[in-house]
Amino acid sequence: MLPEDPVEAHNRHVWNRLVDQKSCFTTAAEDSSFVDPLGTVDGLGWLGGSIAGQRVLCLAAGGGRHGPLYAAAGGDVTVLDISDAMLELDRQVAAQRRISLRVVQGSMSDLSMFRPNEFDLVIQPVSTCYVRDIGQVYRQIARVLRPAGLYVSQHKSPVSLQTSLTWNPTAIGDHTGTCGGYVLQRDYYSTNPIAPVQQRTHLREPGAQEFVHRWEQMIGGLCRAGFVIEDLVEPFHADLAADPSSLAHRSAFIAPYVRIKARRLGEAKSSLVLRDF
Ligand SMILES: C[S@@+](CC[C@H](N)C(=O)[O-])C[C@H]1O[C@@H](n2cnc3c(N)ncnc32)[C@H](O)[C@@H]1O
Repeated sequence: MLPEDPVEAHNRHVWNRLVDQKSCFTTAAEDSSFVDPLGTVDGLGWLGGSIAGQRVLCLAAGGGRHGPLYAAAGGDVTVLDISDAMLELDRQVAAQRRISLRVVQGSMSDLSMFRPNEFDLVIQPVSTCYVRDIGQVYRQIARVLRPAGLYVSQHKSPVSLQTSLTWNPTAIGDHTGTCGGYVLQRDYYSTNPIAPVQQRTHLREPGAQEFVHRWEQMIGGLCRAGFVIEDLVEPFHADLAADPSSLAHRSAFIAPYVRIKARRLGEAKSSLVLRDF
């Protein structure tokens, strides 16, 4: 077995600790979300109204939410996650609700435990920020997803990861003379992890090592791995009237996430194989 990547080992400890602390994103799906499980996970209707019988990989999706909901919606679900504590939450929820699902501990950067074309659908909540090479993740997914299968993912936007979490009242304002702003703190091209945060926030996990992926890596990388993009949205969290430094107020300036619907091409490779960025 290969030695564990130090970044992955670090983030596994971080996520195990977040489970101990009952942090956000480590809470199981609430009862009400099981009334219409597919509606809960697919508010945009990207999955065509039913996933009954589909082989679903919930990638980097431990925590007792995605796996149980996709399984309750009729999927034949596998949850892969680096954190044993996050996967334990899936086991617990599945046992409590008598839901059948498979859990696998491992990294999104190495899906060699799965067969080619093993899944009809891959869903990935926000998590690519925890690995240096997003292209490697895409290539792994392209191998295990069948041709024409869907890959639905959500990512932290690069500018959100580059920018201060808190409002700076003395920053230069806009043309209206308003003072204050969120401050762009990090260059776009560095491949090093961004400085970890210590405070609890919805946007960053305390202590985690996270990477900025440029748009050419996030979107172009999908195309180069053999996907076509069918849709892209920026989930709306903005409220300019909210308290400065809150998620809603910051989101009025910076869309925190991007959600992408991508479909795997057939056996033919994308003609866009240029070079790896
Ligand atoms: C934001 S959580 C996603 C699921 C969460 N329950 C939610 O509601 O969004 C991100 C997950 O990514 C996992 N993770 C971090 N690095 C990973 C890696 N290299 N491979 C697989 N999973 C990883 C973490 O353990 C964590 O469970």
